[in-house]
Amino acid sequence: MPVLECAVHWAAPADEPGMRALLDDGERDRYERFLRAEDKARFVTGRFLARTALAEVTGLDPGAIRFTTDCPHCGGTHGKPRLPGAGVDFSLSHSGDRVVLVLAEGAEVGVDVERESDRDIDRLAEMVLTAPERATLAAMADRKRGFHRYWSRKEALLKATGHGLAAPMTAIRVSGPDEPAEVLAWDGEAAVSPVRLADLTPGSGYAAAAAVLTGRPLKITEVTC
Ligand SMILES: CC(C)(COP(=O)(O)OP(=O)(O)OC[C@H]1O[C@@H](n2cnc3c(N)ncnc32)[C@H](O)[C@@H]1OP(=O)(O)O)[C@@H](O)C(=O)NCCC(=O)NCCS
Repeated sequence: MPVLECAVHWAAPADEPGMRALLDDGERDRYERFLRAEDKARFVTGRFLARTALAEVTGLDPGAIRFTTDCPHCGGTHGKPRLPGAGVDFSLSHSGDRVVLVLAEGAEVGVDVERESDRDIDRLAEMVLTAPERATLAAMADRKRGFHRYWSRKEALLKATGHGLAAPMTAIRVSGPDEPAEVLAWDGEAAVSPVRLADLTPGSGYAAAAAVLTGRPLKITEVTC
């Protein structure tokens, strides 16, 4: 089976005039509504990364790229951003000092990066992990790292389908944090098969994963912009 090329672009949040200039009217409104400078920077950097990478792949002018964000549940405009007709799917995520874009031709993709935080892991694990996953996590020396790895893998899957956190993470069972990323079981309305999962390398203090709705083996290339 031929490999599926999956490009991962990492960037640090920035908020430069040349980046803002590419936003469309709706994005500019959203940008203005963010109260915190860091939220503005993460948003504008993500959309800039997406436009520049998609322009390279499609030959489109980055300033002419318009994303759709239709929500399949309610018809609102807060769904997965897409570029219809391009034959390329992409996914964005941002957390702390990291912004990441994943992009592939011919398959739906999802990405998630999470800054490791001192959240109440035991409480969150009840909401996010299956019983076998909770048992694996309980036996880990670094539970914070393990939990965020589980979370990023599951969120990447749900972002690939476009469900986001509207679908339950407990319907997905993935391999242990120290094992190669793999979906072991998935049920419910969001479930998709075949699917490939891969851990990314966001650097210390972060967890990140990419999901691709394909049975083909992945070739992942990570670059920092
Ligand atoms: C998508 C979602 C998981 C993102 O959560 P997060 O951890 O806060 O944020 P991340 O940084 O990882 O990802 C945000 C990016 O995901 C993308 N995104 C938004 N909605 C998405 C969706 N449904 N599926 C996939 N990607 C989505 C966007 O690019 C967004 O960043 P941007 O708007 O700055 O470009 C969360 O917002 C969510 O679950 N949304 C859907 C909720 C929903 O549909 N509810 C039902 C309403 S009727």
